[in-house]
Amino acid sequence: MATSWVSIEASCLVLAIACSMLTINRVESIDPIGAHRSLAGETIFDIRKFGAKSDGRTDNGVMINQAWRAACSSKGPARVLIPLGNFMAGQINFVGPCAGGKKTVQIQGTLLGDPNPSSHASKAWISAQKVDYIDITGGGTINARGENFWKYAKGGGEGVLPVSLEFQTVGNGNLFNVNFLNSMGFHIRVTDSHDVALWGLNIQAPGNSPNTDGIHLSSNKNVRITDSKIGTGDDCISIGHGNYDVFVSKIECGPGHGISVGSLGKRPDETSMGRITIKDCLIRDTTNGARIKTYHGSPVMDASGITFENIIMERVKNPIIIDQNYNSNSKTQPSKVKISDVHFRNIRGSSISPISITLNCSSTVPCQGVELADINLTSFNVPGPLTSKCANVKAYVRGKINLTGLERCF
Ligand SMILES: *[C@@H]1O[C@H](CO)[C@@H](O)[C@H](O)[C@H]1NC(C)=O
Ligand SMILES: *[C@@H]1O[C@H](CO)[C@@H](O)[C@H](O)[C@H]1NC(C)=O
Ligand SMILES: *[C@@H]1O[C@H](CO)[C@@H](O)[C@H](O)[C@H]1NC(C)=O
Repeated sequence: MATSWVSIEASCLVLAIACSMLTINRVESIDPIGAHRSLAGETIFDIRKFGAKSDGRTDNGVMINQAWRAACSSKGPARVLIPLGNFMAGQINFVGPCAGGKKTVQIQGTLLGDPNPSSHASKAWISAQKVDYIDITGGGTINARGENFWKYAKGGGEGVLPVSLEFQTVGNGNLFNVNFLNSMGFHIRVTDSHDVALWGLNIQAPGNSPNTDGIHLSSNKNVRITDSKIGTGDDCISIGHGNYDVFVSKIECGPGHGISVGSLGKRPDETSMGRITIKDCLIRDTTNGARIKTYHGSPVMDASGITFENIIMERVKNPIIIDQNYNSNSKTQPSKVKISDVHFRNIRGSSISPISITLNCSSTVPCQGVELADINLTSFNVPGPLTSKCANVKAYVRGKINLTGLERCF
């Protein structure tokens, strides 16, 4: 017996797939109900073993949550497998804390949102919460079918509709190689988390869909967002209050409202933020490019150490914009968000409006240390030269800038 296993295991080197199934079957009996073990020693919980059906109609929320709880409470690395097929589901909770070992949610197929609004009563459709070491991946698709809900969206801010996927109080979480389609509210929100990486995402919703931000961050430490394609009806990425050490690179953004720091200062409990780097991005057919936005009547707070570098703009309306009067018509008190140590470096491409740099800072706390370096923007179907508009700022220039009307910026 022992010899035959040795020879089978040896032939695994050549016949990896067939043999892994043999090995799995061999050890399955000693594993928890509904589970088998992979060659890597990871316990796998296939949602079909919990009764999930890929008919696109059954609400699989309960089955997926049961598979998660089994994975979460099993000791050592464990994986929830959502195989190929269309799995409709209401509320999904990947909630910890879990027993030790990394937990993976592998989405190979498509998760479809429930078109019935009453099954989406909470603020997130899929919520990863209070988990350390979680990966969500698999190459599949998270389709909230938000088009059924957009008529309920209220303008401005986070709106009222649930995000497709949240990381809430997650440590060492990775979200990679997943497609997102037509969220109800935001597509992804990361809050109160640390050491989070997002990459290989493809996030798509129509350019006119309301409040469908791609990725929103608030109150996190150390987040990386890289190598992703985002086109939605709102900000591709919005970096809110309380975030430190955020690195964004190789994002293709558009349509939408661009990549934004903010909006900041809407609520009285917001906290300072900083050390934000956004580089090597392509922003195309958006209303804004590189943007910082803050509200009037804000709490006293800082936004400091913000760099936009190596950004290509194609047909962008406001390629470079600081707006401290964001959506603030009803409030008279100027913004008290103090913006400093900001760098716009090597920004090139085309603008579809004549004002391609706007630095409109707060009259009580003027912007400080704003650098404009190597800005080469050409006009796309705009008559006359491109120009700029500045208030309450003394920027400094490095390298070459070929815009006119910069006098008020220095
Ligand atoms: C500015 O951009 C234009 C068009 O993209 C390009 O032809 C030109 O060489 C650039 N100028 C500099 C100084 O980089
Ligand atoms: C700054 O924004 C305010 C409010 O929207 C506007 O009234 C003002 O004209 C702007 N200033 C510049 C220089 O664009
Ligand atoms: C900036 O440079 C580009 C290419 O060199 C040119 O087409 C454009 O007209 C320049 N813009 C201004 C305002 O000089």
